[in-house]
Amino acid sequence: MTKTIAGFSKLSKSEKIDWIVSTYFSHDSSAKSILEQYWSSDKKLQQLHDEFIENTISNYYLPFGVAPNFLINNKLYTIPMAIEESSVVAAASKAAKFWLNRGGFKTEVISTTKIGQVHFMFHGNPGNLKSYFNHIKPKLFEDSKSITKNMEKRGGGILDIELKDKTEHIKGYYQLHASFETLDAMGANFINTCLEQFAKTFKDEALHFKGFPNEEKDIQIVMSILSNYVPDCLVRAEVSCNIEDLNDDENITPEEFASKFIQAVNIAEVEPYRAVTHNKGIMNGIDAVVLATGNDFRAVEAGIHAYASRKGTYSSLTHAKIENGKFYFWMEIPLALGTVGGLTGLHPLVKLALELLHKPSAKELMQITAVAGLAQNFAALRSLTTTGIQKGHMKMHLMNILNQFEASEAEKITVVDYFKTHTATHNAVVDVIQKLRSKN
Ligand code: MEV
Repeated sequence: MTKTIAGFSKLSKSEKIDWIVSTYFSHDSSAKSILEQYWSSDKKLQQLHDEFIENTISNYYLPFGVAPNFLINNKLYTIPMAIEESSVVAAASKAAKFWLNRGGFKTEVISTTKIGQVHFMFHGNPGNLKSYFNHIKPKLFEDSKSITKNMEKRGGGILDIELKDKTEHIKGYYQLHASFETLDAMGANFINTCLEQFAKTFKDEALHFKGFPNEEKDIQIVMSILSNYVPDCLVRAEVSCNIEDLNDDENITPEEFASKFIQAVNIAEVEPYRAVTHNKGIMNGIDAVVLATGNDFRAVEAGIHAYASRKGTYSSLTHAKIENGKFYFWMEIPLALGTVGGLTGLHPLVKLALELLHKPSAKELMQITAVAGLAQNFAALRSLTTTGIQKGHMKMHLMNILNQFEASEAEKITVVDYFKTHTATHNAVVDVIQKLRSKN
């Protein structure tokens, strides 16, 4: 067992590193230099990163790539993506190009309502609670005015507050269930601040409410927090074309391709084991854009997967059909994103990513992000139902294997060239490198 430490967060960055290195890496002289290698030489920039979280000792890089040629509602975009998985950006670019000549992506924001809840316990008469809620509801809005003022000026704010009876699940459990419009902000801080104010007003005012007998006055607030489940913050993305225009692969007819593709989607609609992987592929595209634009990918992930299970079984987020000789492929997903606040005005690469996207509103970013997810799923299903996934994946992963073997530039050129006409597997790549080296 290693040592514990008190007051770690109070140490300087250099003291923190010294402690980590002496406690965990005393055998490894490179540990400190690896951590330092990833520091920015720009001291101000490094300080910005240091201060994002507690106990920063280095930066963790992800590749920041771009996928060009996305035509969305007749406007061209180059989409920024932050992701480590080799084939994702290549697949997105390929799908973008495929649909560029077939009308591009069509998107629409269906709704933008977000939810927050004050969870509380009340063990008295439900009728009295209802009367109290109706009595206090205007004051809940009123007491939050200083928080909502700016948001309201821009057209957002608190939309409604409802009392929800959850006592069939837990004895005495009720909620203030509030809905919000947060415009271009993701809104977490705004919503949570409003909720904490609701909770305070709701608890304090109960002490003076004449409709409660004494024993009912003590409302116990359990917690106040936004929900990352946002089924009413929905965006739709779609592609469609005549079946004969799906003619990109000489090894399969457009009709066969459409039919296999739809079967693959149908399987993900009914089979959770497949649906999870299918949706993971969609998240490859979504997370990469969410990360590049400084949004909270954990919130997005949680909300989308909950949505994928909303009918009681985990199911595909995308759908496909043929109608009147046309192929349709679409997805509706909940996405709570922001283009102001949070990291968006702070992280230089996030600012750059948003500028690259023509400084989108949150609604526009929802549409772009959904397209990245749909494109990713199209690319994955296209490979899966035709060549198989490994061909494209290994082509991109080849460079990782070469780097693992510290291949020289000359070796890389030879090996990449060789695998243009041979099937790349990990063993085959290792074999070729070893043969090449034994010759020299
Ligand atoms: C890999 O990251 C994603 C895929 O597995 C998605 C899918 O199977 O649809 C290729």
